[in-house]
Amino acid sequence: MPNKNSITLTIDGQEVTVPEGATILEAAKQAGIDIPVICYHEATTANGLCRICVTDVNGGRLLQPACVAQCQADSSVETRNERVERSRKTILEMLNASVDLSEAPEIQEMMSNYQADSERFPDAKSRDHAIIDDNPFYIRDYSQCVLCWRCVQVCAEDAQYTFALTLGERGHDTEVATSFDISMTESPCVFCGQCVGVCPTGALKSKVEFGMQQGLSADEIRQSTRKSRKRKSLNDK
Ligand code: SF4
Ligand code: FES
Repeated sequence: MPNKNSITLTIDGQEVTVPEGATILEAAKQAGIDIPVICYHEATTANGLCRICVTDVNGGRLLQPACVAQCQADSSVETRNERVERSRKTILEMLNASVDLSEAPEIQEMMSNYQADSERFPDAKSRDHAIIDDNPFYIRDYSQCVLCWRCVQVCAEDAQYTFALTLGERGHDTEVATSFDISMTESPCVFCGQCVGVCPTGALKSKVEFGMQQGLSADEIRQSTRKSRKRKSLNDK
C-alpha cells in the first residue's frame, strides 16, 4: 500500500511504487527488470561514470543514468528502447577500442547482447600500461582498467578509509595510481584486498591467480608473493 513517502512510476510499461529517493536502478530491480552496470557496485557509492545504465525518462532530451537518477513520480521510464540501445552499444564499442576487456566477462556479454562492433574504432589509441608488480599480494594491469572508480572508493570512504588509491595523469592517460606514484608498499595500503574484490575487469589481480595464469609452478608462485619489483611483470624473471 503506497504511503505519502512513496512514489509511483512506470518502467517498461510496468507500474512500480518505490520509496521517495529511490534510483531508477533500484526501482527497475524491484520490478525484475535488469539494467546493465559497469561502474556501479552495491558496495560503493554510485557516481554515474560509465553511462552504460542510461534509460529514457519521458522521452527527455538526455538519457538518464539509472544508478544515480532518482525516480520521478508519474514518470515513464524505458530501459531498452532504440535510443538506449544505441547509446549503450557506442559506449561498449568505445571501451572495447581503448581497454583490454579480455578478462571482463560481464562486459563481453554486454558486447554480444548489444551487438557491439569490436572493430568500430580501429584507429583508437588503446590503453597500454606495463603491469605493476610492486607488492607481495597483487598486481595492477591498467591496460585492463575501465576507470570505474570502484577500487578507489572501497579504499576510501566506502569501506576501508585507507586512501591508498587516487587518480593520476589526465585525459586519455588517466589511470588509477598511488599518490605521487609511490609503490604500494610505501603507500598507506593495508592489503585488505577489497579493491581486487570489486574490480570488474581483471585489472587488479592476486599474485596467486596471476601466477597460475602465467603457468608458474606452485613454488614459483610462492616465491612471487615474497618479493615485489616495481613496474615489472612476473614474466620478467
Ligand atoms: S582497477 Fe579495476 S576497480 Fe579500479 S578503476 Fe580500474 S577497472 Fe575499476
Ligand atoms: S553503472 Fe550507472 S553510470 Fe556506470
